[in-house]
Amino acid sequence: MTKQTDVVERVLELIDGLPVGEAIPSERQLSSDLGVSRPTLRAALEGLVRGGYLVRRQGSGTFVGRPKIAQELTITSFSEDMRRRGMMPSSRTIELRVTTAGARLGQVLHVSPGEPIVVATRLRLADGDTMAIETLHIPSALVPGLRAKDLESGSFYDLLERRYGIVIASGIQTIEPTVTNEEESAALGVPLHSPAFLFERTSRARSGQIVESVRSIYRGDRYKLVTELSPNAGRELTARSATHGAAGHGVDNEHRRLSAAGEGGGT
Ligand code: GLP
Repeated sequence: MTKQTDVVERVLELIDGLPVGEAIPSERQLSSDLGVSRPTLRAALEGLVRGGYLVRRQGSGTFVGRPKIAQELTITSFSEDMRRRGMMPSSRTIELRVTTAGARLGQVLHVSPGEPIVVATRLRLADGDTMAIETLHIPSALVPGLRAKDLESGSFYDLLERRYGIVIASGIQTIEPTVTNEEESAALGVPLHSPAFLFERTSRARSGQIVESVRSIYRGDRYKLVTELSPNAGRELTARSATHGAAGHGVDNEHRRLSAAGEGGGT
């Protein structure tokens, strides 16, 4: 372990025992308690502030941050997920417009490039705090009459089911690290270039029809991802195909099979 990682671990241990919002000891105190130099301590604290474990308030000190939301990779909706954690979900529609799908989105949504789609950007909040920005793309034909207000009054997945008879059943999602741009930072109320997760989800209805393609920016200081590790079907396939003289293609084939079947999880 490097010196800095060791210091991070020890500060995390210290804040584990403190309530959210409690001030941590001064840098001078901590560097002497932990027996490390001020620059090493400062670098470790800086990382913990960037990661959301600590919050710095100009002129008043450094405080224990809120625990991160441990996000499972399932197809649940934001609203359902927040409610399950005892938090109150809400949304603000930043923009809702109708445009044509174009080649790339047309391919993702399985519609022709000239087909109208609804593009809606929402700020997602939990207990009034900003958590994510999500941009939905949905073929207009699936959601006639959808208005900006409809997306603020509750869950989109609930609305899809109640008004349009569409039940989201499965999806494919990619996750990439990113940093917030100017617009995202302003909407989320975080500094420019804050760490974030980029989720891109394509969801299917029970019928197998593609319903939405969603691009979400989740605050990196409020989320961590958690997933149960199960035996790797792809690895078994690779091992099996190796014995049949086609080594190395098992994982790819498995991924293609999942993509084709629309299996997988999401935020
Ligand atoms: C998550 C997903 C989105 C999905 C949304 C639906 O946030 N990342 O892809 O559109 O849930 O949430 P709700 O039903 O609360 O509007």
